[in-house]
Amino acid sequence: MSKSNNGSGNGGKGIDDSKQQQQPPAYDPNFTAQVIAATGPEAHPRMAEIMPSLLHHLHDFAREVNLTAAEWAAAVDFLNAAGKMSSETRNETALICDILGLESLVDEITSKLLIHAAKDGAAPATPSTVLGPFYRTDAPILPNGSSIVSADAYKLWAGKGNDMTCLVSGRVLSATTGDPLPGAMVDLWLAGPDGLYEQQSVAVPDMNLRGRFQTDAEGHYSVYCVRPTPYGIPDDGPGGALLNMLDRHPWRPAHIHFIVSAPGHNTLTTQVFDREGEWIKNDSVFAVKEELLVDFVAREGDDKAKWSLNYDFVLPEV
Ligand code: BEZ
Ligand code: FE
Repeated sequence: MSKSNNGSGNGGKGIDDSKQQQQPPAYDPNFTAQVIAATGPEAHPRMAEIMPSLLHHLHDFAREVNLTAAEWAAAVDFLNAAGKMSSETRNETALICDILGLESLVDEITSKLLIHAAKDGAAPATPSTVLGPFYRTDAPILPNGSSIVSADAYKLWAGKGNDMTCLVSGRVLSATTGDPLPGAMVDLWLAGPDGLYEQQSVAVPDMNLRGRFQTDAEGHYSVYCVRPTPYGIPDDGPGGALLNMLDRHPWRPAHIHFIVSAPGHNTLTTQVFDREGEWIKNDSVFAVKEELLVDFVAREGDDKAKWSLNYDFVLPEV
């Protein structure tokens, strides 16, 4: 393993201070400043603000690990492969960000900024978590109490889904007043009992296990779907190669995704996680939060659902 080298000439452990001071810098100490100074006066303001920091971290990383030309070329190939694999139905670059914990971190930063900007609340707002790469806009808008599982999908899952039928219901509330929010939109999507989202499986009908539901006058929504199961994130591309190189598993705990919006309130992107499911403490994309753990309850007397989940979403006012 090579010694770390920060370009200021004081890299290397066990060397006393006087010797360190005598060493010339390993790499050109003016190089990063020169690259930063190349930014022109007409640069995009946010880019001009953040790029000096990015360049410092990026160059320091390369110096610290003594990144070689061959390693850099491998990283470029990796990024190119992720880009080439990405399409309407597969976002490999976003997946790599998830594997690296970047989407979870950015979600935490964004939600802290929104909470600071929001009015003081009567109730704590529901925490957000990552969107993930499988969201599709324009899911069908359906009446409350409808099912988002197509009959064909049950056949396809070879009976697996029959024991998993589930009614998900609850209310959308204002964090500011605690009052229900009529006319809020609850957009949800989840993977099937085969562990696949609708767009990952050619056999499953378009928009299966996706739907949008508007809350009624009391702020209620309700939808029949299936109790979610754990699934592995796609690992047949560069993201999977990365997981392999890091000796990591691809599993996500069972969850349902939601985007909840209401006029005058911050839109919430989140997931709820089956408390009893596997991988809850070991999510491959680091998205689980304590407040988002839920309990599915056995349901009696309803032909359409063996399970139920009641969950309220609380949105801060803008
Ligand atoms: C998902 O839950 O859909 C997901 C999130 C991050 C990476 C892969 C999948
Ligand atoms: Fe998911």
